[in-house]
Amino acid sequence: MKLKTDILIIGSGISGLSLALYLSKLIPDEKILLITKEGLHESSTFYAQGGIASVWNSNDNFEKHIQDTLIAGDGLCDEAVVRKIISQAPKRINELIELGIEFTCNSNGEYDLGKEGGHSVRRVLHVNDQTGQSIEQTLIENVRKASNVEIKEKWCAVNLFAKNFRCYGVYALNQESQEIHNIAAKTTVLATGGAGKIYLYTTNPDIASGDGIAMAYRAGATIANMEFYQFHPTCLFHPYAKSFLITEAMRGEGAILKDLRGNDFMEKYHPQKELAPRDIVSRAIDAELKRSGDDHVYLDIASYKDSDFIKSHFPGIYNACLDFNIDITKQPIPVVPAAHYCCGGVKTKIDGSTEVKNLFVIGESACTGLHGSNRLASNSLLEGVVTAYECANSLAGEIQKLSVEEFPEWEPGNAVPSTEAVVLSQNWDEIRRFMWNYVGIVRTDKRLQRAKKRINLLLDEIDQYYWDFKIEKNLVELRNLATVAKILIVSAISRKESRGIHYNLDYPNKSEMSRPTVIRRPW
Ligand code: FAD
Ligand code: SIN
Repeated sequence: MKLKTDILIIGSGISGLSLALYLSKLIPDEKILLITKEGLHESSTFYAQGGIASVWNSNDNFEKHIQDTLIAGDGLCDEAVVRKIISQAPKRINELIELGIEFTCNSNGEYDLGKEGGHSVRRVLHVNDQTGQSIEQTLIENVRKASNVEIKEKWCAVNLFAKNFRCYGVYALNQESQEIHNIAAKTTVLATGGAGKIYLYTTNPDIASGDGIAMAYRAGATIANMEFYQFHPTCLFHPYAKSFLITEAMRGEGAILKDLRGNDFMEKYHPQKELAPRDIVSRAIDAELKRSGDDHVYLDIASYKDSDFIKSHFPGIYNACLDFNIDITKQPIPVVPAAHYCCGGVKTKIDGSTEVKNLFVIGESACTGLHGSNRLASNSLLEGVVTAYECANSLAGEIQKLSVEEFPEWEPGNAVPSTEAVVLSQNWDEIRRFMWNYVGIVRTDKRLQRAKKRINLLLDEIDQYYWDFKIEKNLVELRNLATVAKILIVSAISRKESRGIHYNLDYPNKSEMSRPTVIRRPW
């Protein structure tokens, strides 16, 4: 089946949903189709805990937030982009409040501002420790009311149709009928989030397989800064807990990292201790684990805050940990670092425009220049909503001048239903494991070269599988995962220094001349 729309949005996190809402108000006569590969709410956005950063009270000002962002980004931020995003944060957040999001207030009735690593003052608006859930639900309620937005859940984008650096739309798998449709659009916007699933341990949900970055790469877009994959220091360590984050805001409220013998250790690594930038805290934990041979450290809030404070500030974490028989009001929480956020992505302007005509990328899949070589905590929900706003305004001015052009239907060739699902699961597992071991928190040239050899072999095997067997979501994701892993490895090999989140023992210092890394087809 062929479908046509004016604007196609792929993804239903904060960036995709915000874009749909802004567009529905700016251009109510244009048709907007939003597809998403799982249920509408399933996204990294839904799981965000700490909150959204913005200058909010008189202790703070834009210059401080800008400087904190630039310091975290360690020389590779685009300062003009940083200034533009940070300075419109209060406006965009007020719009979220008008939509119905009730950020947590203190006893004076003012917004309770959280503190996270790298921020010089309290500036993180939050809804207890379930900010993302509240944002996602509110956006969904509003988008469902927009009359020109059609939503298709469980539709997985497989590949863009692009020729000569122009995008015509996408091939998408309807997971219920198992058919591949082509959706032609004047403009296609990828809002597909990050790629945490390339690593064995991640805070990200399963949807984060780097689909948008891989699709844009195949369509000819430039991919930037992929070596900067941020590791969050504190993911719950428990055999049955999958990807559960313990928010940095807990350290902001005084929780202390300790080894298994009860000794705190952050003082050895940074004067800001627990609230040092994330790369430093993650590396410190990694060093402690390597030194001691332990498999986790502890985050202790119980010794510093009373039970009522903990339950009222962190109700989501309290209840989730209790399900694993950990009472965080009485005992320390076992934690390990895990892959968390993709600071690189498809190189875009602030409005999401790319080098491929009619292809826009917003949110975590994009690399606007805000984060440089390391993202400041709680700046990404902000980037998602700001880039959606900028994208909507650019599209509203252009869309009437564009037309929908059809493109050929999906060619299934001789593909037959898969008989060897074991190949897929083996390859998934292998990539995630060697990415963790060879391309993780601390890297060396030897390990990176080893990873490159492995990924080249696997890419060939996966490519063969892709053309021989009928398309299924697992295969689409595996192919994308492998592509993104390769881009990350090649980017990491090309950076001959340690900067921000990228730490290579063979080049432990920063080089004087440092630029963003860019990768284009072919590798
Ligand atoms: P997402 O919210 O990830 O949405 C991506 C969407 O694209 C999903 O709907 C997905 O299903 C869809 N999709 C993907 N591929 C396809 C495909 N092939 N076809 C169709 N649909 C597809 N940031 C902060 O600023 N503050 C925080 O407190 C915070 N806490 C976090 C906590 C956790 C546990 C995690 C994982 C992240 C956190 N982050 C936080 C980061 C932040 O949540 C994300 O960067 C942000 O939500 C990304 O939004 P997005 O719209 O770009 O992508
Ligand atoms: C957290 O709550 O620790 C996550 C914040 C972020 O990733 O920005």
